[in-house]
Amino acid sequence: MTTSFGPSYVRAIAPYVAGKPISEVAREFGLDEANIVKLASNENPLGMPESAQRAMAQAASELGRYPDANAFELKSALSERYGVPAEWITLGNGSNDILEIAAHAFVEKGQSIIYAQYSFAVYALATQGLGARAIVVPAVQYGHDLDAMLAAITDDTRLIFVANPNNPTGTFIDGPKLEAFLDKVPRNVAVVLDEAYTEYLPQDKRYDSIAWVRRYPNLLVSRTFSKAFGLAGLRVGFAIAQPELTDLLNRLRQPFNVNTLAQAAAIAALNDTAFLEKSAALNAQGYRRLTEAFDKLGLEYVPSDGNFVLVRVGNDDSAGNRVNLALLKQGVIVRPVGNYGLPQWLRITIGLPEENEAFIAALEKTLAAA
Ligand SMILES: Cc1ncc(COP(=O)(O)O)c(C=O)c1O
Repeated sequence: MTTSFGPSYVRAIAPYVAGKPISEVAREFGLDEANIVKLASNENPLGMPESAQRAMAQAASELGRYPDANAFELKSALSERYGVPAEWITLGNGSNDILEIAAHAFVEKGQSIIYAQYSFAVYALATQGLGARAIVVPAVQYGHDLDAMLAAITDDTRLIFVANPNNPTGTFIDGPKLEAFLDKVPRNVAVVLDEAYTEYLPQDKRYDSIAWVRRYPNLLVSRTFSKAFGLAGLRVGFAIAQPELTDLLNRLRQPFNVNTLAQAAAIAALNDTAFLEKSAALNAQGYRRLTEAFDKLGLEYVPSDGNFVLVRVGNDDSAGNRVNLALLKQGVIVRPVGNYGLPQWLRITIGLPEENEAFIAALEKTLAAA
């Protein structure tokens, strides 16, 4: 007898592939953990800000009780920072949680969700997980084709995911283009604007998406504490949207989806502008170093506005996995992106200067041996 537990659309899902943990690579390749460099999950190479560590240590004595389900203090801090009422904010267990909740809150089984080819893997997972129909719009130069995404809207489309900057390609859509797009999206179609990497944008590329939330009742802006704020392991993200959308999210959200330590750390990180500036500066410096090395090696890469770079490491479809394996043997963990339909490419998270150098040396050695 064949097993057929669960809906067929759930059985059809290919589970998310996360970056390999350092301990696993150490075991698999017989390496010392201390010599392994992980540039695979777009984490902040500076780690967690000290201000957040102190806030967590203080909050630890409260762990016998449930977290504040309404996260009053964190929402107040976010409300002040972004100039929106606290009622417009929804917290998530990472912004991944926000993306999932939004899909479930806005879309019914059988309706359609639009996202771009090569955009963040969770959009496909969220779509499949609720038995919705995915409309995947071909990318242009590895980024979103907003006109084609508008043209792809059908009567049953209820949600469009847009990642800006996008992961894994690092592509960026400028503010005026995004605004023109939002203006044309029908009001019964929600737009989730996923800005997980927005804090890395240089000043001249920044735009005011929160002002758009005030103008467009169908817009949800999603942000995270996992990247520039340095709290990936704690899992905190948030959505900003008008009350109609926020109210729906709150009906589906788990009451205690952001734990006590995470709430305390996020408040501290939010106020730690020095850490944020240091993270962005380190990232810009690392980006210059990595792309300079790729230029020297004659490797194609996609210009990136995130904390990572997508680089083409060969012209055959086994190149990504082959070079990845060679790097792993040298203790460097990066991310193969064959699951995104990019088998000739690897995604490299920008690390500390010494981590970037270790990666470049290992890559040079690998390519020289090929
Ligand atoms: C574009 C994008 N959105 C959302 C996320 C989810 O991050 P988190 O759940 O840690 O907030 C990621 C993580 O890599 C991402 O790249």
